[in-house]
Amino acid sequence: MPSSLSHPPTLLLLLLLLLFGITTTTTTTTHAFDIKYSTIDQIQQAFQNNHLTSRQLVQYYLDRIQALNPLLRAVIEINPDALDQADNADSERQTAQQRQLGGLHGIPILLKDSIGTKDRLNTTAGSLALLGSVVPRDAGVVEKLRQSGAVILGKASLTEWANFRSRGAPNGWCARSGQGRNPYVLTADTCSSSSGSAIAAAADLATVTLGTETDGSIICPSAMNSVVGIKPTVGLTSRSGVILISSRQDTIGPICRTVSDAVHVLDAIVGYDPRDAEATRDASGYVPVGGYRQFLRVSGLEGKRLGILRKGFFDAYPEGSIQALTFKQHFITLREKGAILVDDLEIANASTIVDFMNNGEFLVLPAEFKQSLNEYLSELIYSPVRSLTDIIDFNNKHKREERMEEIGQSILLLAESTKGIGPVEERAIDRMNQLSMQGLEKLMKENKLDGIVTPGAKIVSVLGIGGYPGISVPAGYASDGVPFGICFAGLKGSEPTLIELAYAFEQATNVRVPPSFKPSFMSVLADSL
Ligand SMILES: *[C@@H]1O[C@H](CO)[C@@H](O)[C@H](O)[C@H]1NC(C)=O
Ligand SMILES: *[C@@H]1O[C@H](CO)[C@@H](O)[C@H](O)[C@H]1NC(C)=O
Repeated sequence: MPSSLSHPPTLLLLLLLLLFGITTTTTTTTHAFDIKYSTIDQIQQAFQNNHLTSRQLVQYYLDRIQALNPLLRAVIEINPDALDQADNADSERQTAQQRQLGGLHGIPILLKDSIGTKDRLNTTAGSLALLGSVVPRDAGVVEKLRQSGAVILGKASLTEWANFRSRGAPNGWCARSGQGRNPYVLTADTCSSSSGSAIAAAADLATVTLGTETDGSIICPSAMNSVVGIKPTVGLTSRSGVILISSRQDTIGPICRTVSDAVHVLDAIVGYDPRDAEATRDASGYVPVGGYRQFLRVSGLEGKRLGILRKGFFDAYPEGSIQALTFKQHFITLREKGAILVDDLEIANASTIVDFMNNGEFLVLPAEFKQSLNEYLSELIYSPVRSLTDIIDFNNKHKREERMEEIGQSILLLAESTKGIGPVEERAIDRMNQLSMQGLEKLMKENKLDGIVTPGAKIVSVLGIGGYPGISVPAGYASDGVPFGICFAGLKGSEPTLIELAYAFEQATNVRVPPSFKPSFMSVLADSL
């Protein structure tokens, strides 16, 4: 654990001050502006009115991370240069015209630890094996974030190796920072693998965060931690400089507290990147002139045809459960806001598609992972490990720190045994494409749908194997207080429509409430300090 995240018991006082909103030195100088859970628009307004500086904002998150992270474990590292970057942003704001400033100017962001940054931060996918490695350059999305003026606050935790180390690895755990926890219900699942990003967004440890998704890694933790996640069409955002599982499936996207914040981040990171040329060239045609913010329309549901998937999706919740009752109410709201619900639809071969062992992913992802990981490692300026073989050896030599007895590394070993994309993998990829064509493509076209609506993370394999986008929005809280989400999804490039749907739904329902940090939380936290 880096010293910047150490936590002497005296911090309990600071924590109490923070959680109960008692004014601290951070906030006394901010006049009327209350930073807590603020949005990008509110922050930009406060910057303009001189009610807030970027430095104060960064300091607020640093204090909050110091207080809450010992328990939540959402942050692996803090950027030692974050305050300097904030100072730069503050002085730029004094001299520049507002229109010259990027959309995320002075806004602190946490990045999943698989996203490379060329600065003093490590990039490790949560593994001790990559600690100290030096990347050749910023990841493509980080370059764009810096151009947009964002302050890189630090690295968020994840399920180690984006949950591609072994079957049954604990969600939210990585050797670098330990067990991430759901801020709503500490014992609840954080889901995987962009867990730290979702926890941090939920608990207000940064204004916004970035995650990555191969099959569910943005949508699922967003749903479980009551935040908004956008999984963009594959290629809409560059994957260069990111530790990937699959260049065919992986995509980088925002995890934030509101749809609007997520869309601000999306606007900053989309577009062509010569280092991920093929995918980003194809997808850059989807980026609308004027960006995505224009689709934040409260009337966005009017006249939209939405497919409702019941069998295996909404039907999975027992009748009378809070989830079933809540979704029923949401359907009424969607109709009231002008949507046409096309009910009881089924995706052909859905049960095959949602089965990781059967849909082709299990055959292909290990080979793709080995290829992309070895390529990533070969480009590092310095690294203690240079191949998947080295990483496997590292884990064997660090059994205790990497919890090898319990967790093992069965998927890494499986990946190691692969020999590139051969006929078997090609056939599996063809079949995945067929499943997508006969599945979501056909359903959407035959029913002239603008989008489909599904609960939680149940749709993620459909989106994963097809490269399709989805947006998860908070939908409710189960009887035990654990959050659940609703997902709006569609065909490639349908982000403008999905943003309309997600935003209009969010504005109509206003479901998200911040974690309450109940007394039980406080006592667990006190014990952990
Ligand atoms: C990165 O890792 C090194 C250990 O190799 C550590 O000394 C350094 O503090 C880490 N960087 C940050 C910003 O925590
Ligand atoms: C999907 O299901 C249909 C009918 O059950 C079957 O004929 C078809 O081969 C399946 N598609 C794939 C790609 O498995």
